[in-house]
Amino acid sequence: MFAPAARLASKRLLEIRQLFRQSQQTSRSFSTALNYHIDSPDNNPEIPWEFSDVNKEKAKEIMSHYPSNYKQSAVIPLLDLAQQQHGGWLPVSAMNAVGKHHLLVCGTSPCMIRGSREIEEALLNHLGVKRNEVTKDGMFSVGEMECMGCCVNAPMIAVADYSNGSEGYTYNYYEDVTPKRVVEIVEMLRRGEKPPVGTQNPRRIRSGPEGGNTTLLSEPNPPPCRDLDA
Ligand code: FES
Repeated sequence: MFAPAARLASKRLLEIRQLFRQSQQTSRSFSTALNYHIDSPDNNPEIPWEFSDVNKEKAKEIMSHYPSNYKQSAVIPLLDLAQQQHGGWLPVSAMNAVGKHHLLVCGTSPCMIRGSREIEEALLNHLGVKRNEVTKDGMFSVGEMECMGCCVNAPMIAVADYSNGSEGYTYNYYEDVTPKRVVEIVEMLRRGEKPPVGTQNPRRIRSGPEGGNTTLLSEPNPPPCRDLDA
């Protein structure tokens, strides 16, 4: 009576051991794949990358599901497609295919009232692209974002900067911009310079009023405190 139970137990033990061995192999090959990704020559933002011909067709089909003014929402399925193309991992070159500097113009009400449409127009005209297109040299793309929390310094743009690869990635805000200033910022980025972030209005300090404070000029009185010893 105990023999079948013992056989069953030893069979189960064998299965568990096999599963354990398999999981160790899987985790080893997973970390090898990760190391391969990090150390491989593919981890180089200079390497051009594109979809295979079959996937170009699939990408077109994916894009067709999105309305013309929200094509950027296809980014996740497109990255998923790129990942499938590489057998389950996403090379940095594929991520870089969106452009080294992705310029995001805030299009929400305060920035719009303060001229964000003119800002976007200046960028698109200067770079010779439509929204969400990448310039021929792969340096810039322009997109739109909703409020990025800088309404007090509207209008503003954010620049996702991939020019130093994934390790050196930065995300910078340029505030109080004008059509002329955004073109200057683009040209500074093209030359590899670092435009000063924050307000671009020399008469403002951070988000303080232009020309300095007109109210609250003296040191504030501290709040009255109860004397606990009294
Ligand atoms: S509306 Fe543009 S930052 Fe808030």
